[in-house]
Amino acid sequence: MRKPIIAGNWKMNKTPAEAAELIAALKPLVKGAEAQVIVCVPAVAIPSAVKAAKGSRIKVGAQNVHYEASGAFTGEISAQMLVEAGVTYAIVGHSERRQYFAETDATVNLRARAALKAGLIPIICVGEKKEERENGYTDILVTYQTLMALHGMTEEEVKSVIIAYEPVWAIGTGLTATDEQANETIGVIRKAVAENYGRRAANAVRIQYGGSMKPNNVKGLMAQSEIDGGLIGGASLSAEDFARIVNFRE
Ligand code: PGA
Repeated sequence: MRKPIIAGNWKMNKTPAEAAELIAALKPLVKGAEAQVIVCVPAVAIPSAVKAAKGSRIKVGAQNVHYEASGAFTGEISAQMLVEAGVTYAIVGHSERRQYFAETDATVNLRARAALKAGLIPIICVGEKKEERENGYTDILVTYQTLMALHGMTEEEVKSVIIAYEPVWAIGTGLTATDEQANETIGVIRKAVAENYGRRAANAVRIQYGGSMKPNNVKGLMAQSEIDGGLIGGASLSAEDFARIVNFRE
């Protein structure tokens, strides 16, 4: 059985002090949770988030990671820097990075592999835009993005990564994929993993849904056979809402 994994993506929200406050509020609320809990915080808030999360089951993630170990890459942060700061997960290829910062499938692959090499678990985001779904290209697109992101990884590495299926039209819009849509597309992603890395890898890899996941829709989504967790933006900025998502079974 795959352990449920609920990750918050705070995006460009919360200062270091606010991060510590939010985690302090979250801690008691997720104490007994069955799910793995992750908060992906802005880079400058990582030290205070790590400190605040100490002694709890909350893990701290980054929102991106560069693929080189060091060098002339102004504004970027290496995997080793994140590891040393106490980070264990890193989002890679979020649609906002692809849309606003020109990330490509090739750089997403490099970033994911650099993360793994340093001992970070990448949370690799894939997902179709509205017109791609309307034109019937969802399955092709998510299959392509997934295989490009995993390219060159070993079966063991593929088993350890997290994939987040995030339909772009559902992010921050209040529109959610239906339980069935999300389950079906995640099934397509798992099939692509099975065909290229084997059934064992496909059974082990955890695939989240993301895109307006909220306390009121988490239950239905998490009841689906293929959905192993969520990547939560807006609702992760409230300790109460995020905790309700983490504790989705209650
Ligand atoms: P949302 O964001 O929950 O605000 O839709 C999800 C994400 O971008 O990861």
